[in-house]
Amino acid sequence: MLTVHHIGYLVKKIEHAERQFEELGYVVERERHYDDIRKVDITFLTKDSYRVELVSPVAPDSVVSGLIKRYKNAPYHICYAVDNLEANLEKLGSQGFVQITKVQPAPAIDGRRVVFLQNAAIGMIELVESEEEN
Ligand code: NI
Repeated sequence: MLTVHHIGYLVKKIEHAERQFEELGYVVERERHYDDIRKVDITFLTKDSYRVELVSPVAPDSVVSGLIKRYKNAPYHICYAVDNLEANLEKLGSQGFVQITKVQPAPAIDGRRVVFLQNAAIGMIELVESEEEN
């Protein structure tokens, strides 16, 4: 069972993006947090029933430095919360999704484990384990 958790949004200047989203009526849910595994700054904002994750590279070797050159400021993944990360990885594998990162904790979401997958038809998705599992 996949539940949409957030839309991941690449941004070059996170403080500008935060301000711009706030002007559109988004509210900061989790203040900016440096993820030292991925070398990115992350802020979560919400509006209506939507959650947006702003992701901005902090170092030239961050996980999104290549992507941001290609896409500039743009949404780039949808993240789904799942009860059982391993079972869903296996199921998605049989549906044409290829795991492209290790399963690793996400400091910006209380250390919950996440993993990224790539699909030829719909691009990148992320899975995050549900809070109930912690
Ligand atoms: Ni994400």
